Amino acid sequence: MTEIRNIVVLTGAGISAESGIATFRGPGGLWEGHRVEDVCTPEALARDPVLVHRFYDERRAALARVAPNAAHVALARLDAEWPGGLLIVTQNVDDLHERAGAKRPIHMHGELKSALCAHCGDRRAWEAALPPATECGRCGLPALRPDIVFFGEIPYRMDEIDTAIADCDLFVSIGTSGAVYPAAGFVRTARHWGAHTLEMNLDPSEGSLFFDETRLGRAGELVPAWVNAVLAG
Ligand code: OAD
Repeated sequence: MTEIRNIVVLTGAGISAESGIATFRGPGGLWEGHRVEDVCTPEALARDPVLVHRFYDERRAALARVAPNAAHVALARLDAEWPGGLLIVTQNVDDLHERAGAKRPIHMHGELKSALCAHCGDRRAWEAALPPATECGRCGLPALRPDIVFFGEIPYRMDEIDTAIADCDLFVSIGTSGAVYPAAGFVRTARHWGAHTLEMNLDPSEGSLFFDETRLGRAGELVPAWVNAVLAG
């Protein structure tokens, strides 16, 4: 393996599982009792805005009852101490990376604690409940919605992510099933540009065969051990 300077870490729901946040594709394939298509598509929002807004209100309120776990804390330590480049990209809409101390994780699928204006595109921090038809503070139209990237919508900051992946020497995927693109394709892009690729997950993801190395287990144990080893050189 070449010397490691730039690292990209991709995280998914599995990193927050030990904090008590349900993963998306758990037993039964339901997310907190709902089919993903019923709460995570533009069609669902148009069909039943009350249900969709309430669903994300509940998820946002639940953040007050959870805390970062050892995996989030270890990545925050890596963020603080790694002398090279590091980009943490998360598919998660929770705020546990930030609460552990990570400086600027990219939330490619949006954030629970943010509201998006469907009319003017304004995004702003949002802590409270967000009923349908709430007025936008910028354009004034009653068009605020949860700032979640629904299926069929384009994830945030893809240019920055693509650039970091092309420049990285090590790509690490933690706690994601590899079922949702474009994130599921990052490993192949990283390999294409010559990075070493490592997966840490409870069980093999759909893209496991694309990784140079897979470590199976709980993120709360695997990630701190990996961070210790990387920082020790
Ligand atoms: P998934 O629920 O699809 O996958 C979570 C993965 O984490 C699974 O492979 C589990 O085996 C693994 N896992 C569970 N507990 C773990 C633990 N303690 N330690 C390590 N791994 C563990 O979640 P994502 O891959 O993040 O999109 O889902 C991707 C996207 O699909 C989400 O961002 C969401 C969803 O639809 C949007 O909201 C737009």
